[in-house]
Amino acid sequence: MITVTTLPDLRQALTRFPKPIGLVPTMGYLHEGHLSLLRTAKNECATVAVSIFVNPTQFGQNEDLSAYPRDLPHDLQLLEREAVDLVWTPVSAEIYPQNFQTWVDVEEITKHLEGAQRPGHFRGVATVVAKLFNALQPQMAFFGQKDAQQVAVVRQMVRDLNFPIEIVVCPTVRESDGLAMSSRNSYLNHQERQAAPILYKALNTAQTAFQSGERQANAIRQIMRDTIKKESLATIQYVSCADPDTLLEIGGVIDGRVLLSMAVYIGKTRLIDNFLIG
Ligand code: PAJ
Repeated sequence: MITVTTLPDLRQALTRFPKPIGLVPTMGYLHEGHLSLLRTAKNECATVAVSIFVNPTQFGQNEDLSAYPRDLPHDLQLLEREAVDLVWTPVSAEIYPQNFQTWVDVEEITKHLEGAQRPGHFRGVATVVAKLFNALQPQMAFFGQKDAQQVAVVRQMVRDLNFPIEIVVCPTVRESDGLAMSSRNSYLNHQERQAAPILYKALNTAQTAFQSGERQANAIRQIMRDTIKKESLATIQYVSCADPDTLLEIGGVIDGRVLLSMAVYIGKTRLIDNFLIG
C-alpha cells in the first residue's frame, strides 16, 4: 500500500497502477460501512484507491467539523489489512488553496432533505468530490446508500460535467441491532446508543405497512413519526417519503419506488438513515 499526501506525489504514484482504478472517497474514522465499499471496489477494479479528507466546506458553521472523529494511524492499519493499493490523505491547503473561488453547485436536488437542513453542505460535497475525481482520475467510484441524497447529487454532477466515471452504490451496513454504521455513532453515550436503532425501527415499520398495502405517503410518514416519538431521547428533524430520483415529497398515493428517509437527533447527535422500497 502506498500512502501519499501531496498532489505531485499522487500524480507520480498513479502512473504505477493499472486501470480500471476504483476510488472510495472517505472522511476517515473508518468502519465496516467504508470497508464494504472498498471490498466491492477490490472485486471490480485492478487498483483500489481510498481518499481520507475531512472536507471543511461540507460542514456548516454550527456543525461538528472540529469534533469530527479522526484516527489516521488506525485507518491506515485497516486499509493495509484490506490490501488497498493507494491512499491519498490530502491537506486542506492543497485542496483549497488561498483565494479559492471555484465551486460545483448542483441546483435542484440539493434543495430538499439534507440540503434543506444543511445549507451549503452539498456544494462542499460536490466540489470536493469533483476535485477528488480530477486528481485521481478513477474509472469507477464507490458510494454508500447510507447517504442517499449524496449519491443522487454525485450522479447528477457526473452527468452534468461529463465525468467518464461509473458510480457504484453499495448497501448500507448496519450494526446487529439495525443502527446504520456511521463515524458519528462514536458521539453517542451508552443510553443514546441504546436509543439509536429507533431510526431503523421506524423505517422497518413503514416498510411493513407498505408491504401490507399502505400506499398513502402521508400515512407512511406518520407511521415513521409515531415510531420515533416513542423514544424519549429522539427528536425528529425531518421524515420523508419522496421520489428517489427528484427527491420531491410524494403528495398522494405511492406509485413505484420511494425513498423513505429521516434525520433524527439522538441527544445532540444528528443521525440519518433511509430505505429504498417498492
Ligand atoms: P464518509 O461519511 O466518511 O463516508 C464515505 C463513504 O462511506 C460514503 O459513500 C458513505 O455513504 C459511505 N458509508 C458511510 N456509512 C456507511 C454504511 N453504514 N454503509 C455503507 N456505506 C457507508 O460521505 C462522506 O464521507 C463525504 O461526504 C465524502 C463523499 C467523502 C466527501 O467529502
